[in-house]
Amino acid sequence: MRECRICSAPIEPFMSFGPTPIANGFLTPDQFAGEYFFELAVGFCEKCGMFQLIDQPDREQMFHEHYHFFSGTSRFMTEHFREFAEHVMDDFLGDRSPERFVVEIGSNDGIMLQNFAKAGVRHLGIEPSKNVAEVARSKGINTISEFFDADLARAIVAKEGQADAFLAANVMCHIPYFHSIIEGIKVLLKPDGIVAFEDPYLGDVIEKTSYDQIYDEHVFLFSLKSISYAFGRHGFELVDIEPQETHGGSMRYILAHQGRRPVSERVKAQLAREEELGLHKAETFLRFRDNCEKSRRELKELLVSLKEQGKRVVGYGATSKSTTVTNYTGITPDLVEFISDTTPIKQGKCSPGTHIPVKPYEEFQKEYPEYALLFAWNHSKEIMAKEQAFRDAGGKWIVYVPTVEVR
Ligand code: SAM
Ligand code: TMP
Repeated sequence: MRECRICSAPIEPFMSFGPTPIANGFLTPDQFAGEYFFELAVGFCEKCGMFQLIDQPDREQMFHEHYHFFSGTSRFMTEHFREFAEHVMDDFLGDRSPERFVVEIGSNDGIMLQNFAKAGVRHLGIEPSKNVAEVARSKGINTISEFFDADLARAIVAKEGQADAFLAANVMCHIPYFHSIIEGIKVLLKPDGIVAFEDPYLGDVIEKTSYDQIYDEHVFLFSLKSISYAFGRHGFELVDIEPQETHGGSMRYILAHQGRRPVSERVKAQLAREEELGLHKAETFLRFRDNCEKSRRELKELLVSLKEQGKRVVGYGATSKSTTVTNYTGITPDLVEFISDTTPIKQGKCSPGTHIPVKPYEEFQKEYPEYALLFAWNHSKEIMAKEQAFRDAGGKWIVYVPTVEVR
């Protein structure tokens, strides 16, 4: 029995994906012996609606000077964050003067803040992983390498003053000390300031059985109910939502200090939709568990059968998400020859836990395999558009979200 990280109600795991390594812990053979594993088990709190990991590795084990995720590797995401920044400047800041102050946590290589920097808006990135933060700094983006929490927020206010906007993408769901984060936002944000952050949406995960959104970094999967509850305890109000296609289905939450902005009808409508989906009920997660097990069985059977037929299968995109899939399903180098990835720091290393070699994209192009297992399924539009030659050569895609299929 554990306590919910948000409301302290007792929670129990409803499923476990078994021993799992650090999702972004790509490694070399000399590191295999000391590889770290933890049990990837998940629970759901019926009181406040928060979906969460039972245990999470320490933050320093995940976010450090050798962090393997560089946001700028996708052109689609670069455009996505340009649009996000434009939206904030046009619709929330009101102008682009240097008087405005924007803070982003988990700013990584500066993929979003570069747009504010270009527009001359005062900004601060908070990015603890030093290697990616350094890339941002080299682009002229003000970045400090710290973990955000309430203490850091107080230090920022003392030095820089309060902010007009607090932004985050794919990081709020990473942070177990969530109340300290919200307390920090409370201190940091001007009375009329705005909070805008986005993360993978629990509703999409349940609807698509995209269980690969569950890995060490994602200590939470949010819904409107859980976000309203957690922020409500600190005097914030969820005033709008903006569903996103990114990461296979995300939700952008817009929040303000209580009573400062009108609440959009969209919030009410989506809360009703969550009820319909059963997102607030424990039994939904038991069905989800059955769907995960079915997906695992079918994917394994398909890969074993292709191996028996002597077909070559290569993975496409050494994503953090794929660490859950490969470890849970038991996808080892005898089933998938290598994984192609464009991120230099991942190349020449092996996938966490299952030790499939990660090779540069050129290896994929050099001799197309018969099948490509699409681990980066969330980038499928971008990838399909550029891989026509693979198709023309007779190549087929294996996908597993929402169901296992050969296309
Ligand atoms: N925002 C980028 C994006 O969407 O592409 C990067 C997302 S990446 C998955 C999460 C980032 O959050 C990492 O770069 C990590 O170092 C950073 N991070 C983790 N905990 C943090 C904290 N407490 N404060 C600020 N950043 C944090
Ligand atoms: P993500 O799903 O967490 O954004 O990670 C995507 C990974 O896939 C990242 O390591 C880069 C890689 N990738 C490719 O190798 N080729 C591509 O065309 C794209 C879009 C991503």
